Amino acid sequence: TIYRVVCIPGDGIGVDITEAAVQVLNTLSKALGGFEFEFTTVDWSSKAYLERGWYMPPDGLEQLKKFDAIYFGAVGWPDVPDHISLWGLILPIRKALNQYVNVRPTRILPGTTSPLANCAQADLDWVIVRENSEGEYSGQGGISHEHSPHAIGTEVSIFTQVGIERIMRFAFETARSRPRKKLTMVTKSNAQRHGMVLWDKVFYEVAKEYGDVEIDKMLVDAMTVRMVLNPKSLDTIVATNLHADILSDLAAALSGSIGIAPSSNLDPTRKNPSMFEPIHGSAPDIAGKGIANPVGAFWSAAEMVRWLGEEKAADGLMKVVESVTAAGVKTKDLGGSENTKGVTEAVCREIEKQ
Ligand code: NAI
Ligand code: MG
Repeated sequence: TIYRVVCIPGDGIGVDITEAAVQVLNTLSKALGGFEFEFTTVDWSSKAYLERGWYMPPDGLEQLKKFDAIYFGAVGWPDVPDHISLWGLILPIRKALNQYVNVRPTRILPGTTSPLANCAQADLDWVIVRENSEGEYSGQGGISHEHSPHAIGTEVSIFTQVGIERIMRFAFETARSRPRKKLTMVTKSNAQRHGMVLWDKVFYEVAKEYGDVEIDKMLVDAMTVRMVLNPKSLDTIVATNLHADILSDLAAALSGSIGIAPSSNLDPTRKNPSMFEPIHGSAPDIAGKGIANPVGAFWSAAEMVRWLGEEKAADGLMKVVESVTAAGVKTKDLGGSENTKGVTEAVCREIEKQ
């Protein structure tokens, strides 16, 4: 089988880690046989935007639809306002390709430690299911009376019955597929009295179909406390676009580093390609230094391989990545002394040994 994958490295360390992921994926397919990747790379980045005035060509979304999967690095650079870069590339892709689910697993990898005192590896094993198509990132609103002292900015969150129902179903299915069968729903329906109230209501409606899944509800502020003080009490988590965005960075930090955390932007109907990317951004502070942690990129690549149907290869790749961290081959953010290239080569060598 040949899988056609389009790479959008984007900006900053997005470029380094995409290159590392491609190297690892090619090594994996060569070692295992049975499938191959055909990579196409597009230069849709902030640098290109500054030169030519656009991130994606007019038929960009149509181009993406022709591929089996999308591998994404990161977008955003100090010379371009972040809302221009995000809305120029990643947000339109998620929306137009119906990638309404963003799955963000978090674990403490072997050979790494949580900054939480007394947090053993088994104490933190979460999957955050993020609503990825609406909510706070609907892009609705505006600024009136701009350039006056009375300027007013509105940012309208949109929650639809259909949008909530489908993300809740996905979250319940995820919870059901895991040993603990436990789902925590995050909300802020005490202060936000419309959309969040609908969010809660639909959650309890869908819950009736999943009697075997244990449920609970958390306000997002209290949730941050629980994640830090009682990580063991959580398993699968469902939250809105904004809340899950924030909670997943916290989750990544609690598991050791933002540099290890993967994400899958999924169109569960499979009518459009899904997109895989580490959750971190372009990290301008370390860009160009060759020291970005590529583990989040490899984990994202493994999830892509899984989504493409190569379950065994995906598990194999994660096993290798974990054996490399276990051996202490790590970048600085994880307390190691290797660079991106060193970790990538260690992973490739280990794949070839399998
Ligand atoms: P960031 O995730 O790029 O960086 C936050 C901190 O984590 C930095 O100190 C960085 O050095 C460190 N870091 C991130 N990834 C790392 C890795 N793989 N290895 C080692 N250290 C790592 O977040 P920040 O600084 O808020 O955003 C930078 C730019 O990226 C902004 O333009 C932002 O809009 C954009 N961004 C893009 C995302 C995307 O493309 N999906 C996601 C998040 C931010
Ligand atoms: Mg984020």
